[in-house]
Amino acid sequence: MAYRYKSDLSIRDVTPESFFINRRKLTLGFSAMAAGGLVGFNTANSEEAVTETPNTLEEISGYNNYYEFGTGKGDPAKYAGALTTEPWSVKIDGMVENPGEYSLSDLLKKMVLEDRIYRFRCVEAWSMVIPWRGFELADLLEFVGVKKETKYVAFETLLRPEEMWGQKKNYLDWPYREGLRLDEALHPLSIMATGLYGKALPNQNGAPIRLVVPWKYGFKSIKSIVRITLMEEQPRTSWSIANPREYGFYSNVNPAVDHPRWSQASERKIGSGFVAKRQPTLPFNGYGKEVASLYEGMDLQAFY
Ligand code: MTE
Repeated sequence: MAYRYKSDLSIRDVTPESFFINRRKLTLGFSAMAAGGLVGFNTANSEEAVTETPNTLEEISGYNNYYEFGTGKGDPAKYAGALTTEPWSVKIDGMVENPGEYSLSDLLKKMVLEDRIYRFRCVEAWSMVIPWRGFELADLLEFVGVKKETKYVAFETLLRPEEMWGQKKNYLDWPYREGLRLDEALHPLSIMATGLYGKALPNQNGAPIRLVVPWKYGFKSIKSIVRITLMEEQPRTSWSIANPREYGFYSNVNPAVDHPRWSQASERKIGSGFVAKRQPTLPFNGYGKEVASLYEGMDLQAFY
């Protein structure tokens, strides 16, 4: 790609000391792994100031939303182990030069992978800072070739009710679906995550591959992706199918637009303790400088 996003945290900033000391050993161990084993960390471009400490692995993997495994925040950690994540492939279809069923391990071998650390705060029900590992979605789209008619990118989660018991319930229209406008998908902050804290993703966080879009509410960051479709029309998305008034297509973090049933003007970082003061939610989750230009001239109250 022409330019790359500079990570805003260094490995030392986001990693507990004990893990940092073991990093070299762990990294060497991981290099032998296929799908999850994206080697090493990118420590370049890390001179910027850091204000947030990351959440612990226990926090990140113990308090999740993954409705395929139940609607409670503790359910995914309890039940997501049932999901078989290897082998895994992602079907890429629609307006794409090279459509196909891409094996994840082949894909990862083909991609030139550089590990980065992303600062991420999910404000929908909580807020976390997570050191993701993965690659830019733009790199994948470049690899498969985007046809010029493409305006949107649609994503789908695996449909496998035998292993995902929540899919036997009808609180969502399965499979889970999400979508981005093409320019959002090509933004270097949109990443495909395959790991966190230097390890393969825990199943409850969306193994083996999930989307992370840090300037949008958490539900856009779809987990365990098996299909990516390049489209001319705006795709339908699970939450806007379930409740179009409450959930729009864009879902940019916006303290000025309340969810019909609750205010989104403030958030509380998970792990900061229940007595922690709520902090004001920042437009675009604090990434306004990077992404506000994507929406220039758009009425963000209407396109929520
Ligand atoms: N993806 C799928 N397939 N199913 C889900 O229920 N929940 C979403 C999103 N991706 C969800 C999903 C919501 S509401 C949030 S807040 C994030 O995943 C949570 O990601 P985390 O558990 O890694 O913090």
